[in-house]
Amino acid sequence: YETPLIRNFCIIAHVDHGKSTLADRLLELTGTIPKSKENRQVLDKLEVERQRGITVKAAAVSMFYPYQNQTYLLNLIDTPGHVDFSTEVARSLSACQSAILLVDAAQGIQAQTVANFLLACDSFMEVIAVINKIDLKEAKVERTIRQIESEFGLPAKNIIQVSAKHGTNCDKILEEIVKQLPPPNYSRTKPLRLFVFDSAFAPNINSTVINVAVTDGIVRAGDKIASKLSGKNYTVLETGIFTYPDRVKTDALYAGHVGYIICDTKHVQDAVVGDTFHHQGVNVEPLQTFKVPKPMVFAGFFPFEEAQYNVFEQSIERLALNDTGVRIIPTSNPAFGKGMRIGFLGLLHMEIFNQRLQSEFAQQVITTFPGVAYQCRIVGKDNIKDYGSDLLTISDPLKWPDTNIIRETLEPIVFGQILTPTQFAPIVKIICDERRGDLIEEYCIDEKRTLLKYKLPLAEIVYDFFDQLKQITSGYGTFDYEDGGYEKSNIVKMRICINQEDIDELSVLCHAKRAQVVGKEIVTKLKENIDRQQYAVKIEAKVHATVLARQNIPPYKKDVGAKLYGGDKTRLMKLLKRQEEGKERMRSIANIQVPRDAIIAVLKRK
Ligand code: GTP
Repeated sequence: YETPLIRNFCIIAHVDHGKSTLADRLLELTGTIPKSKENRQVLDKLEVERQRGITVKAAAVSMFYPYQNQTYLLNLIDTPGHVDFSTEVARSLSACQSAILLVDAAQGIQAQTVANFLLACDSFMEVIAVINKIDLKEAKVERTIRQIESEFGLPAKNIIQVSAKHGTNCDKILEEIVKQLPPPNYSRTKPLRLFVFDSAFAPNINSTVINVAVTDGIVRAGDKIASKLSGKNYTVLETGIFTYPDRVKTDALYAGHVGYIICDTKHVQDAVVGDTFHHQGVNVEPLQTFKVPKPMVFAGFFPFEEAQYNVFEQSIERLALNDTGVRIIPTSNPAFGKGMRIGFLGLLHMEIFNQRLQSEFAQQVITTFPGVAYQCRIVGKDNIKDYGSDLLTISDPLKWPDTNIIRETLEPIVFGQILTPTQFAPIVKIICDERRGDLIEEYCIDEKRTLLKYKLPLAEIVYDFFDQLKQITSGYGTFDYEDGGYEKSNIVKMRICINQEDIDELSVLCHAKRAQVVGKEIVTKLKENIDRQQYAVKIEAKVHATVLARQNIPPYKKDVGAKLYGGDKTRLMKLLKRQEEGKERMRSIANIQVPRDAIIAVLKRK
């Protein structure tokens, strides 16, 4: 295909605005997939995505579209819509020149629409605006047109109105893609440059399929290529394009093509997203210096059975290969033995990872409460030498240095945009306030909706902020954020003790203002899960020497058997069941038998 006949585009939209549905229609219209009544969502390939109905990984698919005696090659690059995956969006955008901006007619522009549009503008992309779901009773097409005009400056006359569900007007989109959007402006005669925008391990062929956009030159099987990033050399074994349901081998890929290559790579790590591949011995400029996605949320993962560690480790590594957003650091803890501390782009990302670990690798794991990575500046020449730096970034409370060597602490912050119906703005402000947010800007984007810009500590939004926002805005509030670096803060390490002895694995890093609430929660949870002992048990949450929360478990009395077993049936059943299983694992802390389950219960707390 000559470049004038190629269009590389993506669909950018807020979650659930109908991107996958529209992609299905475009694939049907071009005969790439047979027509069907159901929503096939062919782009959402991974099982977990189907289960959850959201797109996680970027995917590409090629279509052939006949128009005015010519057949065009349209490459659709699918992008995820959720806020956790904005790095995936950014990288898919780098492989195409244009975008379809899809907006739900009932919901109008949302926070993610704005964020994705800005990303597209940053990449100088041409944009076609499409309003979807015009079939809905609650569709407000006129209002949405006005929003698109005023917020993005896109002229009303060019906005296409469709129903992706019923296929209405979807053919117009294909026509406009060819008419309005530019072909890639690349040269086949220049030295080869391949932009790596995704990679995945394909178990059926036991190798890595590398998704590439060819920006200059030609690549063929047998070519000797090299990575700009690592300098490693590879031989190309196969080139091809993605068309549903499978890859299709081609003789070559030319500048302007989006497709895949398979090389003699051993590991998925060999194909780093954002890297530039070129012919060996030819010096080229890298296409992009890519920011490695930065993990925002960290949690410990441990195998349920310690003996399973090797299988567990292997499964995690396999899964991580496919997922550039995760960062893995080996760790260990007294209750669960060896494990991994894993960084994720967000909580949803973590949940999906965990779910895939179970569904694809049959791994049962224990996960600790998710947290963010804090920083601290330490003093003392020797300390700095020991730690390797005076500024430490730490997510694992066990690694936090002693208070006496800490000069200051910092926490990660984000810049968030919240879009809410104006009547809910005051209550949104209250919850942001409670979460230590600073309002930066507030304005009405139309007669009904307000955009609030906030600076918020990351730790305050990773957990349930999104759910709470949805709840208080009757589902209408939307949220998007970007990394804002680190700021000075008052971070403390809270220790949890039983009869004065620390339970290391339950220590928490948090803002001093939060410590008491968190401490109370933990000691209460522990009390609920520890049986009475022969002597009194004192459970405390402490910061330095100050006790912030305390719970006591009184010792057995003489007649305790009668009371305990006579009165509390469920507890008796539980104990009997445990005895029967005979494998209740205990951890002895200050001579108190603490069941492993009690620790798991605390780590799972909401
Ligand atoms: P993510 O992949 O999670 O970003 O979502 P998406 O943007 O791909 O949305 P998807 O295509 O999964 O559509 C979301 C929901 O909207 C589904 O239940 C679709 O059936 C529905 N939907 C999509 N297009 C239309 C439409 O034109 N009309 C109506 N009524 N519903 C639609």
